[in-house]
Amino acid sequence: MKIAVIQGPNLNMLGVREQHIYGGVTLEQIHAQLQNAADQNGVEIEFFQSNFEGEIVDRIQECLGTVDGIMINPAAYSHTSIAIRDALAAVNMPVVEVHISNIYKREEFRQKSITAGSSTGVITGFGGFGYHLGLISLIQMLNELKA
Ligand code: DQA
Repeated sequence: MKIAVIQGPNLNMLGVREQHIYGGVTLEQIHAQLQNAADQNGVEIEFFQSNFEGEIVDRIQECLGTVDGIMINPAAYSHTSIAIRDALAAVNMPVVEVHISNIYKREEFRQKSITAGSSTGVITGFGGFGYHLGLISLIQMLNELKA
């Protein structure tokens, strides 16, 4: 089983940016924890981060036939990107969308995720731990599909 983790704009700044909202953990630390959890579950995992919408669309398209599921935090593009939503729909596989903060508790413009319309489920508001929840949920979903 192979899972792609796709991180959107400014998530490379975790640990530095708005720590009162996103906490002090870095993206490298989150990815190291995910790698551990993936190893423990015998799952392959690939990490990608980009600040560019088109690169994220390209990465999603590459998932077709190469991975079984996607965990994505489209970050600010969640609220704007029909292109990312369409790419996720096009590859037609289990998708978990993760947000570190609770987008429903924040500014009105963050309370709508366009991309979530192409995801199987959404995890929002559990901080960096949300990625762990996302990974476990995706593995569970993929196992159920195989069974
Ligand atoms: C975010 C929430 C978005 O509104 C914001 O633009 C981000 C991060 C989150 O993980 O909480 O960059 O996706």
